[in-house]
Order: sequence, then C-alpha cells, then structure tokens
Amino acid sequence: MMVLHQPLWMSECLDRWFESSGRRIFAWTKGLHLVFRTWHCVMSTKSLEITTSEGQQYPVHISDQWDPQILTAALQPWQKRKIFIFSQENLWEVATRPILQAMGISAEQCTILNLGQGEQAKHIRNLEAHYDAMIRAGVDRHSLVLAIGGGVVGDYAGFVAATMLRGIAFMQFPSTLLAAVDSSVGGKVAVNAGLGKNMIGNFYQPHLVYCNTSAFAGLPDREWNCGLAEMAKHALLAPNGSMLESLLEHSQQLRVAGSPVLQDAILQSVAFKASVVAADVRERGQRAILNLGHTTAHALESLTQYRRYSHGEAVSRGLVTALLLSRQSKGLPAHRFEAALALLEGMQLPLSTDGFMADDVLQHMVYDKKNSDGQYHFVLLDEHGRAVYGCPVTAAEFRTAWAGQVALFG
Ligand SMILES: NC(=O)c1ccc[n+]([C@@H]2O[C@H](COP(=O)([O-])OP(=O)(O)OC[C@H]3O[C@@H](n4cnc5c(N)ncnc54)[C@H](O)[C@@H]3O)[C@@H](O)[C@H]2O)c1
Ligand SMILES: [Zn+2]
Repeated sequence: MMVLHQPLWMSECLDRWFESSGRRIFAWTKGLHLVFRTWHCVMSTKSLEITTSEGQQYPVHISDQWDPQILTAALQPWQKRKIFIFSQENLWEVATRPILQAMGISAEQCTILNLGQGEQAKHIRNLEAHYDAMIRAGVDRHSLVLAIGGGVVGDYAGFVAATMLRGIAFMQFPSTLLAAVDSSVGGKVAVNAGLGKNMIGNFYQPHLVYCNTSAFAGLPDREWNCGLAEMAKHALLAPNGSMLESLLEHSQQLRVAGSPVLQDAILQSVAFKASVVAADVRERGQRAILNLGHTTAHALESLTQYRRYSHGEAVSRGLVTALLLSRQSKGLPAHRFEAALALLEGMQLPLSTDGFMADDVLQHMVYDKKNSDGQYHFVLLDEHGRAVYGCPVTAAEFRTAWAGQVALFG
C-alpha cells in the first residue's frame, strides 16, 4: 500500500494513481479529505472509493457485468428491509431484472416504481403518488432506494431518498454514459418545477454507485454524445493533460459498450469529477469549472428552444468555443489546444456552428449587466492548461472565436 499526501490540488495524486492502475493504492489529499482507493480488480470490475469533505464515503464500481459478489455484499445491511426500486419500463431487461437477480432480491421484498420518459418524469407533481406508494408499502427509516436508469431516474430517485423520512439510504445504478460520468457523481439530486429545470433539489450522497458498461449496448447515438461530451470536458479540465492524453490514444474505441477502454475512461472521469466536487461539495466556488463549454451550450439550447440539440450536442460545440477563447486570450498552448480538438473529433462529437451567427448566440447568453460593455463569463483554460472560472469575455472576443469555429468545423 502506498500513501500519497498532497497539500492542495490533487493532480499529481490522480496522475500517480492512474499510472499505477492495477496496484492497490491509497491516495489521500490532506486538504480535501478525498480518498481514492482501488477497491479490488477482480475480473472486470474496477472500483474507487470516494470520501467527500463532509465525511460521506461510498464506493463507485465500474464493471462490464452485474457482479453478484459485489451486489449481494452491498445489499447485506438491507437484507430484511423494504427496498424501493425506481426505474423505467424499457430498462427491465437491460438493467432492472439482472440487478435484482444478482442481488438475490425477492419480489415480495421490493416495490418497483417506474417513471415515465424524459424531463416530464422528473416533474415535482409526480412525487406525491410515489411518496404515497412508499408509505402504503411500509417504508421506514431503514428502507433502501435503488435508482436504476439514466440521469432522470437518478436525480428523481435521489431526491425521493433525500426527502422521504428526512433521508433514507439510496444506491445509484447509472445505465447511461451521461449518468455514469456526470449525474451519479457529486450528490446533486433534483426534480423539475413548472417554471424551471432542477429548481427543487438537494445535495445527497448515495451509499454506492454501480455501473455495468455492457448495459450501454442499446444506447442511442445522441445518448452517447451526451456522455462523451461531459467526459471530454473532464479530460480537458483534468490537470497536466494526463486524462486528455490517455483518452486521445483510444478515442475511436470509446463508443464500444463493455470495452476495457470505456471502463477506464469512465473511471478517470468519475475520479476527476469527484476530486472537484470533494473540494467544493456545495458549489460555492471551484466546482464552477465544471461549466467549461456550458456558457455557449446554454445559449445554443435556449436559441433553439431546447428542441434541436441534446445537452451534450450543445456542450461539445461549446467546448470548441471555449478552447478557441482560451487560445485567443488565455494563452492555452497550441499542443494542448490541438490535442483537445483531436479528442473531440475522435469521439465523433458534433462541433459545427450549424449556421448560427455569433450575434444570435450572444443574444441568448447571460451577461454581466453591471458592466456597460456587456461582458460574458466563461470557464477558460490558461497558459498551463489550468481551468479558470469567471473569465470576462467581450462580445467582440466571442465573435472572433465563433468565426474561428466556423473556419474549423463549419
Ligand atoms: N445530478 C447531476 O449532477 C446531473 C448532471 C448532469 C445531468 N443531470 C440530469 O440528467 C438528466 C439526463 O440524463 P440522461 O442523459 O441519462 O437521460 P435519461 O435518463 O432521460 O435517459 C435517456 C434515455 O435513455 C434510456 N436509457 C437509459 N439507459 C439505457 C440503456 N442502458 N439502454 C437503452 N436505453 C437506455 C432512458 O430510458 C431514456 O429514454 C437530465 O434530467 C439532467 O438534468 C444531472
Ligand atoms: Zn452539462
């Protein structure tokens, strides 16, 4: 066992952890109280353990199967308790049934609550019926919620778990790439209100996250885009460019469900996001770097009434704009810039401006009203490739970057 102490930023710590994958390592950042540990590398399950700065600790398992050994052990404390499963009907064969089988959960012990599809399924109005169903089934403080599905199921079931009886245990089984690398990490749970997405929520950590990447085989291309765009964002943000290099080497194989390349990439992505979140669990500062690419993405989504692009398809375009702005005004080195673009291309993400004019996009961008020039705020990468949030960008600078994106990708 090797123990690493790092006073502040955990970049080197992560680098050394990645380099030493396969060995049992205990990596500890003193200031952040974040612990990563290779749990075990039995067969095809790779795991790490996350401890947040608020002291919650839980394992994240990335596998290419539903491992009965891990799953029955995880369920042990709830063997005789009520279990509530939130999922969707279309996920029964691909995830819900095999998970119940691997855990050895009997039909009498569990209540299955299926959500509908899309953002409507996360609406606050659905809660009452689900709370009632749980109360009728005898929920108590020792009950367990399993969230089996993509980000919609994870956010909603996590919110239910956080609020039922002021908080009962829950486990996340992310079944989309987006859920694996983004929504199941970081403890944000939420439902949608009539006037805004994710307006009602909390920070609530799961007891376990388990992802079987073989279950991604039937994911539509757009869902792959969503997950890969956020994964690429993590690779661009991760210190020293080490994650960027490692993903770039295999970028063509990242869309292969169940592949070791995908498994490793998810593990790196989760480790990186967890490191950022651990430093700022309640989103008061540094966590804002996770908005890289999102200033433009949100404007594109708003400009197209949230109908034309999935979130990831807007983010991948926004990442290019952020890279061009970083090169233009922050001195992002050419080799880092080129590698980042090569990764986005290798992942086959949509990168074009799609014929939109810079001023159309600017009209939908939130800007600093206190500043008479109308400055916009971006997360950018500096001359060392480090992320800086709250960087002021003028409309003229944005227009130049947008023109650069037209020249590169149309
Ligand atoms: N909590 C967070 O930090 C956070 C971060 C990012 C996004 N989110 C939320 O995540 C949600 C989006 O998540 P998403 O992209 O996973 O969408 P989603 O949950 O709607 O899933 C997309 C579609 O894929 C289907 N699906 C799921 N797993 C499948 C599988 N293995 N095979 C085939 N089909 C499958 C689902 O049934 C659904 O139809 C949004 O509500 C967003 O707000 C939350
Ligand atoms: Zn996003």
